[in-house]
Amino acid sequence: MSDRTDFHFEAGELSCEGAGLSALAEEFGTPLYVTSRRSLVESYREFEAAFASLPHLTCYSVKANFNLNVIREFGELGAGCDVNSGGELYRALQAGVPSERIIVAGVGKRPDEIAYALKSGVLLLKVESLSELRAIDRIAGEEGVVASVALRVNPNVTAETHPYITTGDSKEKFGIDEAELPGIFSLLGTLHNVRLIGLDMHIGSQIFDTEFYVAALTKLLDVFSYARGAGFAIEYLDIGGGFPVTYDPMKPATAIERFAEKLVPMLKETGAKVILEPGRFLVANSTVLLSKILYKKSNHTGKKFFVVDAGMTELIRPALYQSHHEVLSVRQHDQRVVADVVGPVCESSDFFARGREIDDAPEGGLLAVMSCGAYAAVMASNYNGRLRPAEVMVDGGESRLMRRRETLEQLTAHDVFTPRSL
Ligand code: LLP
Repeated sequence: MSDRTDFHFEAGELSCEGAGLSALAEEFGTPLYVTSRRSLVESYREFEAAFASLPHLTCYSVKANFNLNVIREFGELGAGCDVNSGGELYRALQAGVPSERIIVAGVGKRPDEIAYALKSGVLLLKVESLSELRAIDRIAGEEGVVASVALRVNPNVTAETHPYITTGDSKEKFGIDEAELPGIFSLLGTLHNVRLIGLDMHIGSQIFDTEFYVAALTKLLDVFSYARGAGFAIEYLDIGGGFPVTYDPMKPATAIERFAEKLVPMLKETGAKVILEPGRFLVANSTVLLSKILYKKSNHTGKKFFVVDAGMTELIRPALYQSHHEVLSVRQHDQRVVADVVGPVCESSDFFARGREIDDAPEGGLLAVMSCGAYAAVMASNYNGRLRPAEVMVDGGESRLMRRRETLEQLTAHDVFTPRSL
């Protein structure tokens, strides 16, 4: 569910599907991402139920969380994948997702990535520009195949969300501008190695207001009519992802049913097969980032800091988008305190919460940063020489490692000492 959480307090301790988080921290160390499998499955079911009346394919947007186990889970439930690079395509294939359920996005696909997608037999490639369309046609010709493509239209709708995650506006690099479309359609009529089968949009991420989708889809449907009029049989309409989740219980997300209520009737009329690309919705609330309180300190102004062993290298969203993530003490304490929860990285933006009231957990205690299933581990980095954490999947109370913690040896494995001249 958008606001689903499979993390609950049991006998004063935060648990995932009944598995106590302290024991997981003990076994696997910290920082640690802990994912509830049940949460993945139930979020997918909730999403599918909302759009059930529509002939559709849900393509999980792998960029939100690309762990092979997560992708495999959705693949086994029947989903396809939306991938944004050769690397994500590789991951989706490794996870066992059939290529005919994979769609390839990306505003800057390299020729080798286009060739890889064509060789893999993906369902379609999205086209983001006239030049890219020519490139796909040329590469398909070299490969001796006809590439199925969808045009990503920029509907020029500015969805209300953080400016860094709005994509459907003419200011942004994404999609094809409406002024370019007639040129694209006439070019399509002359190319022999591409076949237009779809139209696509994606207006941004974490969008609460259904009306932005309605406005953008209205524009996409205009293009749909235009394309049909020009003799193109459009099989697929892809309306992208961006469906919101609850990060802050005080600001609950709009239910997915509200989006379906508005969009399904508009889409049904077209008779096209619909593609949906949820990322965050399926994974955000499936995972917490567990970290240990290393030190507590305060300054002369009375300000208090909890210095923990995870940081912006494991969750960059507060630093990058001023995002709110709940921070809970794994063990409940009666005393509350207002503090900044900060990491060990040498940046002032390395914080999870500022001036937040939290349980006054002791040094050595554990904190859980909530809603870390989307755009957390995938955006992790080695900055400051940090090792990417382990990831654990909890399934019915049992826990299994799904990604090993990085080692110091791996940190230097790709550096090559240049030969020293004498
Ligand atoms: N489809 C396309 C073409 C996309 O670019 C994206 C996300 C999605 C689907 C999935 O969007 P979702 O359903 O997850 O909102 N790092 C940012 C989010 C960047 C989203 C990029 N594109 C964050 O942490 O909020």
